[in-house]
Amino acid sequence: MRISVIGCGYVGLVTGACLAEAGHDVVCTDINAERIKMLNAGEVPIYELHLGEILDSARKGGKISYTADIGEAIRAGDAIFICVGTPPKESGEADLSAIDSVARQIAAEAKSSKLVVEKSTVPARTGLELSRALAAYSRGGNVRFRVASNPEFLREGTAVYDFFHPDRIVVGVEDPAAAEELREIYRPILEKQFSCPVHKGAGACPAGPKAEFLVTTINSAELIKHASNSFLALKISYANVIADLCERIGADVEEVTHAMGLDPRIGTQFLKAGLGFGGFCFPKDVQAFIHLAASVGVDFEILKATERVNKQRIERFLEKIHKALWVVKGKKIAVLGLAFKANTDDIRFAPALEVVKKLLEEGAVLAASDPEGMTGARTIFPQIAYHEDPYEALKNADAALVCTEWDVFKKLDWERAGKTMARKLVLDGRNLYVPGKMREMGFEYYCFGRA
Ligand code: UDX
Repeated sequence: MRISVIGCGYVGLVTGACLAEAGHDVVCTDINAERIKMLNAGEVPIYELHLGEILDSARKGGKISYTADIGEAIRAGDAIFICVGTPPKESGEADLSAIDSVARQIAAEAKSSKLVVEKSTVPARTGLELSRALAAYSRGGNVRFRVASNPEFLREGTAVYDFFHPDRIVVGVEDPAAAEELREIYRPILEKQFSCPVHKGAGACPAGPKAEFLVTTINSAELIKHASNSFLALKISYANVIADLCERIGADVEEVTHAMGLDPRIGTQFLKAGLGFGGFCFPKDVQAFIHLAASVGVDFEILKATERVNKQRIERFLEKIHKALWVVKGKKIAVLGLAFKANTDDIRFAPALEVVKKLLEEGAVLAASDPEGMTGARTIFPQIAYHEDPYEALKNADAALVCTEWDVFKKLDWERAGKTMARKLVLDGRNLYVPGKMREMGFEYYCFGRA
């Protein structure tokens, strides 16, 4: 099928690339002409595992193209995937102005009927508004627009894997024909018709369970996305309160959450205590969901608490830093990890940056290392010394802070690092190490929820 993708951010690029890999003809556009230029030159503007390979093969095979002319992109596709940003406003409400602007352009530029698919995360009822907007902006013209919601469940860092191995594909539609069109778009993935790029070397994807293709109303589809992400955020905050409790009582949060997770009704994932959740999805989705609930008279207390607990993580970490270091001013502190989680270059709403900001305000001298997050951080905090090599960042440090769960940090040789640090002090915001082992090596070691 011919597909247009509007917005070449994380979601748009992954969606465009994977749909091209699945055999469709994809045209991508973005308001940022520089980004389109990069993509046309074969560069990948974001770090995402396997994305470069698929974009490359799709471009060479003529399955994907990029244009800065949104009209051209709109006219090219039978289905248009809207993948633009929906950032939070000051109030927490989702800012839908980019969606509105795209609707106006679709109405103005389309010459034939289109299936307009919301891929961006939006509050419930956005689809209905989008439908009304398309009708209003096209001022009764002959072109027919149908709207559908198809929320993404792509984790940054494993987005390509997630696209080809979904647990569910949710399509919220107004009419059965739209559901059939979307089923056709996803057929290669639903029927596992090809070996995905992640498993190409292995010959075939491991035979996992088949994805459920769920047809719902548009409102339900939109709600499913917010309800899923908010529930995962809630799970993390729950684990973090358990960690606080473990510290007070003298128990080990890793033991507790591991045992809890073995109950299949609970599950082991998203129970990792530490610095809390960040990124461009969870914090904004939780806020937008609280706001949506309030707008219809529902007080989402439990999510407000989720948010509150998450914010406290930064304060707790700073308390631990103060307790260990006493005076922060003038101390050299090595920050390991800036991205909001491992395997991404994304630093948006990263807990690490909150910690860094506070320490700089207090006059600490910071050195940092992150495999992918330093380019972005440099523009916000130029006063930090950045090192590709974490051992360089740790040289002469009075303390090491671990803020992101990158594998390189998990495998760090602390014997080696300890020899060059001014003080053998590690504050682990992600519970990556075994406390006993760190202490055996002569480190003062602080983490979350472990005695
Ligand atoms: C999320 C959703 O998982 C994905 O389905 C959705 O569509 C987009 O938003 P992402 O933002 O990439 O994906 O991050 P995710 O892997 O979910 O992690 C979110 C945050 O929670 C990270 O900061 C991570 O470090 C933190 N986290 C995660 C914890 O603190 N503890 C955990 O146990 C798990």
